[in-house]
Amino acid sequence: MKSKHFLTLLDIPKEDIKKLIHRAIELKKMTKENIVYTPLQNKTIALLFDKSSTRTRVSFEVGMTHFGGNTLFLSPRDTQLGRGEPIEDTAKVISSMVDCVVIRTHDHEDVVKFSSKSSVPVINGLTDLVHPCQLLADVMTYVEINGDIKGKKVAWIGDANNMCNSYINASKQFDFELSIATPEKYIPSLYKDDKNIVLTHDPLEAAKDADLIVTDVWASMGQEDEEDERKKIFKSLQVNKNVINVANKNAIFMHCLPAHRGEEVTSEVLDSKSSVVWQEAENRLHAQKALLEYLLVKNI
Ligand code: CP
Ligand code: NVA
Repeated sequence: MKSKHFLTLLDIPKEDIKKLIHRAIELKKMTKENIVYTPLQNKTIALLFDKSSTRTRVSFEVGMTHFGGNTLFLSPRDTQLGRGEPIEDTAKVISSMVDCVVIRTHDHEDVVKFSSKSSVPVINGLTDLVHPCQLLADVMTYVEINGDIKGKKVAWIGDANNMCNSYINASKQFDFELSIATPEKYIPSLYKDDKNIVLTHDPLEAAKDADLIVTDVWASMGQEDEEDERKKIFKSLQVNKNVINVANKNAIFMHCLPAHRGEEVTSEVLDSKSSVVWQEAENRLHAQKALLEYLLVKNI
């Protein structure tokens, strides 16, 4: 059955999520050809963002403009949420007026709570647990460049964070092998002894013969106080030329951005031919348009 909310990648049935990726590629082509398609006229989505954002905010706002609808950006600082109005009450009120809510916040449970009282679809725009919208764009980018990701080897190198957890979910939805290299004692919270996932502390082992290499910042939003300590702990997990050199010849590099050049990835890799980060960032727009269409347009 079609899901109402998109809180994690697992909320969309396997067969639908693959179609969604192909639809995103189609919508991208339509945009490039200036084909006007406005299925969300008179619809409004609220963006309830408790953390900074460039890509997620811009892509949802522009996506809604393309679709003929509107967005409402709400920072908790400016709403009664910031003054303690319960999430569930806020969910009832906001969802009675808008057609969809995108939430970016710390605690994943807050998004679950909101969605339980929301009468309209809720999209997770990033929590400390997962960042599912990013994975739609990442998989779309892989498919555009190298075709089906099924059976390919993906290397995650770095923190056991929300992006790493999202790759764990994606490996189930899209059937790829995942090698995760993290520092000792850093185990991704969604890892459950999965048979297509290997955990290691050695970035070269993870990257060996990989088709896709991915990393992310060493200190996520909310971990600013740990930045210096984390720089030391993660030092050996930098994605540099040595790491890329052991991967497959046509391997590509992704990073959800923003990147910290010289920390988790060198500029040499980020600006290299194997890096597809700008295409990946642009694809946030097309992938989320496909997601909005899937959740909000009848008969899709
Ligand atoms: N990758 C990503 O979600 O970027 P923003 O934090 O800029 O939205
Ligand atoms: N792991 C990062 C991703 C930013 C898009 C964070 O949560 O800050």
